[in-house]
Formats: sequence, C-alpha cells, structure tokens
Amino acid sequence: MTPNATSMMRPDALKDRVIVITGGGTGLGRSMTERFLHLGARVCITSRKQDVLEAAAKELADATGGQVLPVVCDVRDHGQVEQLLAKVVERYGQVDSLVNNAAGNFISPTERLSHKAFQTIIDIVLMGTVNCTLVFGKHWIAHPAEGRTMLNITTTYAWTGSGYVVPSACAKAGVLALTRSLAVEWARHGIRTNAIAPGPFPTKGAWDRLLPGDLVERFDMRKRIPLGRLGEHPELADLATYLISPFSGFINGEVVTIDGGEWLKGGGEFNMLDAVSTEQWDMLERMVRGTRR
Ligand code: HXC
Ligand code: NAP
Repeated sequence: MTPNATSMMRPDALKDRVIVITGGGTGLGRSMTERFLHLGARVCITSRKQDVLEAAAKELADATGGQVLPVVCDVRDHGQVEQLLAKVVERYGQVDSLVNNAAGNFISPTERLSHKAFQTIIDIVLMGTVNCTLVFGKHWIAHPAEGRTMLNITTTYAWTGSGYVVPSACAKAGVLALTRSLAVEWARHGIRTNAIAPGPFPTKGAWDRLLPGDLVERFDMRKRIPLGRLGEHPELADLATYLISPFSGFINGEVVTIDGGEWLKGGGEFNMLDAVSTEQWDMLERMVRGTRR
C-alpha cells in the first residue's frame, strides 16, 4: 500500500484504539497496520522475525507518524502470547482490537505431506488464532470495557475446501467456526468477533508458496475472478478498519468475502459459459429453441 493511498474512512476513525495484529510486519498485515496508523490507532505488530518487525515498525512509524510496537511472538507458543499481552499492556495500558492474521501455508499433494507438515499449518493457523483469542479474550473478560473487537483473517476455501492446501483449508475452517461461536458466546462481554475471507491479493509470502515458478503464468488468478483483477491491499485494509471500528457496531459473527466474486464463479456449475461469444449465443439459442419442435 502506498503511504498516501486514500481511505474512505474519516481520519480519526481509529483514534486512541490499541490494535494487536499478528503477522503485522509483512503482506496484508503490514498494509492493514499502515491503514490503522493513518487513522489514529496505536498498533503492536508481531511475528517470529525480529529484524522484519523492527524494520517494518520504523518504516511505518516514519511514514504515518504513528506509534508501532514490534514484539517477537510465535503464536504457536501460548506462553509467548501471554508475554505479548503483558508487553502491549505495559506499553499502551490497554488493548481494544486483536487481528488474527498470521498464517502458514504451501501447496502440496496431501499424500506427500508428513504428519509434521500438516501439524505445522494447523498449529500456526488454527492453534495460533486460538492461543491469541484465549489470552486476549480472557484479559478482556477480566477487565471489562466497551468496544472490544476481534477480526480473524480466513479465506474462501474455509467453506468450500480446496485440494493441495488441505491443512490450510482445515485450519481456516476451524477459524471460521471459532469466529461464529465466540460472536455469540462473548457478545455479553462486549466483544464483537468477525472475519474477512480474502480472495487473491498479491503478497510475497503467499505468491512464493502458492504460485512458485511458472505457476503464476500457467494459472493466472485473474481469469478465475469475475471482476478480472486481483485484490488491492487498500481495499482489504479499509474493510478491516470498518470491522474493528465502532462504525460496524451491530455486525457480529459475520465473515465478509472480498474476492471479486471468485468463489461463486468456481461454485456455479455453468460459469464456464463465460467463454461463449455473442455470436455463439445466437447460434446456441436457435439450437435450444429448436428442440421444442
Ligand atoms: C511439503 C513441507 C513443505 C513443502 C515445509 N514442509 N514446506 N512439506 N512441501 N513445500 C514440511 C517440513 O518438511 C516439515 O516437516 C514441516 O513442514 C515443518 O516445516 P518447517 O520448515 O520446519 O516449518 P516452519 O519453519 O515453522 O515454517 C512454516 C512454513 C513456512 C509454513 C513451512 O512456509 C512459513 O514460515 N510460512 C509463513 C508464511 C506463510 O506461509 N505465508 C503464506 C500465507 S498465504 P518434516 O516432517 O519434514 O519435519 C495464505 C493464503 C491462503 O494463507 C489463500 C490464498 C488464496
Ligand atoms: P504473509 O505476508 O506471509 O503473512 C503471514 C504472516 O504470518 C507473516 O508475517 C509471518 O511472519 C507470520 N507468521 C507465520 N507463522 C507465524 C507464527 N508461528 N507466529 C507468528 N507469526 C507467524 O502472507 P499474507 O498473504 O499477507 O497473509 C496474511 C493473511 O491473509 C493470512 O491469514 C492468509 O491466510 C490470509 N490470506 C491471504 C490471501 C492472499 O491472497 N494473500 C488470500 C486469502 C487469505 P514470520 O514468518 O516472520 O513469523
């Protein structure tokens, strides 16, 4: 996202909010962080790589004038997540929103996966989200306040499933179930829980692992998308802003798809008829109407 990219949001949309975003130093997490900072939030970014986090924090603070706290935390380790919470509270005195964005994924035929490979993805995506949700959720319940929000980044194959990314599909389906379950259970604690299901948004992390080598040309993702293009980071950042902000105060338990219509196109049995030209339709219509005689 470019630093001066415009947002539909008012400049104080996130004023004084403290937001923790896992995987906030790269890709979509970084783009969301940049938007949150532009709109007045203080943000803690976490992942496993200190150098990446510190560089991102400095660049984002310089670009936006906002406050960014980089904290190394492997979301698979519940103890590290507890330390993360302690560091955020020590620095900012509060936490208002948690964005569970960290993920691990790669393409592979499922029969080629070791038990450890499957477990690794489940541990990062599902258990990482669970660990953060439990630690921050328990803290919020013990220290009641208004306006707490959780936002989970899932994906559209959470409900369709997908071959060749099966551990990720299983884990993201779990994240979706967690989202909808806690939206009901924790609403009485003033916690809203929502999710975003993105279609393809170019990031180095995803593209290196999901479209390596010539796959990026062989399987042009744009052809799968009715709108004929990939997602743009500011579009997702604005949606995330809305869902964690008080402006979406009556939205709870929702998963918002932002994929240009990709998954519906994949689901509709006759969507391949996109390929038929107008002249062919004229001929086909005559043939089909002709069957009445
Ligand atoms: C088969 C593989 C493999 C591969 C790793 N493994 N890569 N198996 N094919 N390509 C196996 C290893 O051999 C090992 O099993 C086990 O997985 C763990 O591997 P490690 O390298 O030790 O794990 P770790 O260092 O924790 O790294 C995790 C990782 C890595 C997921 C493998 O890619 C990573 O750090 N990813 C983080 C960022 C990321 O994935 N971003 C993309 C998100 S995109 P054995 O049995 O050998 O010990 C996304 C988009 C979804 O989610 C939707 C798109 C439209
Ligand atoms: P990305 O840049 O690779 O983001 C993943 C982040 O997770 C990285 O910052 C990574 O940092 C962090 N991470 C991985 N394992 C971790 C762990 N154990 N503990 C803490 N942090 C960890 O890829 P992205 O495309 O921006 O993905 C962001 C989110 O969007 C993910 O949830 C992904 O599933 C979702 N999504 C992306 C797309 C897309 O097209 N890009 C589509 C659908 C959904 P470290 O490796 O340094 O720890």
